[in-house]
Amino acid sequence: MSSQEIPEKNLPAEQAPAHGAVEGADDPFADPGLPAHQPRIQDIDERAAKRSERAVAFMFALSMLATVGFIASFVIFPVDKIVYIFPFGHVSALNFSLGLTLGVALFAIGAGAVHWARTLMSDVEVADERHAIEAEPEVKAKVLADFAAGAEESAFGRRKLVRNTMFGALALVPLSGVVLLRDLGPLPEKKLRSTMWAKGKQLINMNTNEPLRPEDVTVGSLTFAMPEGLEEDAHDFQTQIAKAALMIIRIEPSNIKDKREREWAHEGIVAFSKICTHVGCPISLYEQQTHHVLCPCHQSTFDLSDGARVIFGPAGHALPQLRIGVNSEGNLEALGDFDEPVGPAFWERG
Ligand code: FES
Repeated sequence: MSSQEIPEKNLPAEQAPAHGAVEGADDPFADPGLPAHQPRIQDIDERAAKRSERAVAFMFALSMLATVGFIASFVIFPVDKIVYIFPFGHVSALNFSLGLTLGVALFAIGAGAVHWARTLMSDVEVADERHAIEAEPEVKAKVLADFAAGAEESAFGRRKLVRNTMFGALALVPLSGVVLLRDLGPLPEKKLRSTMWAKGKQLINMNTNEPLRPEDVTVGSLTFAMPEGLEEDAHDFQTQIAKAALMIIRIEPSNIKDKREREWAHEGIVAFSKICTHVGCPISLYEQQTHHVLCPCHQSTFDLSDGARVIFGPAGHALPQLRIGVNSEGNLEALGDFDEPVGPAFWERG
């Protein structure tokens, strides 16, 4: 509501002395009216208004610079750079710089907006009458008129420097969030699509650390294997074993129902990924009578005599099988990598 449309009794006392003041000393509930409006220095002195405008613009420009500084810090400071800053002591240069610049960027926008509201927007106090809830056409027209008046009073259209720098600050500050997304860690790229298995890599028994021979794998037993060359004290052991761990079992070839499984086996010895295709738990519970393996996490059950298809539970697809054979030394070896990514059903593409 603009000051022109305020009911006369609600105008500041200096504008409506007849209705806003106490009407009688003997009336304890008389409406005291609004206090007289005190114009600010910016209302009467255009040079003061200009100073305020420049101050607001300075804060928005400072926010822009701080946002640029935030992005630059991300590029300039290595993650492990430590610096001494009084009174904080030894701190990470990157974290300190990111925190400082983002803090300044957000604070400057807030400070600029508050200073703008306190010094340049209209501060005439207004009161609105209670009215019916439904919106009459005249009310809507009045709201639009009030909005237009508010826009005019805020000097949003007139003070182009403030408006434009504010747009610039608001447009730049979300960039900080975009940059932070890049800090979620290295991209996996194609690392999840392949494992250490390759043609000629021997299967190493994870209990004995010796190459597995066909005669080591008896019907009914469950053996875990890893690729030749993977050392338990290697820095990437967990990363590699999380993809390459194998379950080895032996089934009478006549009991293998799946044709491809039979072909990829060696004399009934089959090798399947040990990593559950639900969310990646290691599978370990084997029932030798039925050739079922059970994942302990959510009870997905796979039939190892039928291509390791899922017969129960939330897993989305069968366990990948590794094609194996025997090398010239009589040890079991891989005949290539898995022909599909191992692990969770993330890889199901519809
Ligand atoms: S991780 Fe195996 S069933 Fe959920």
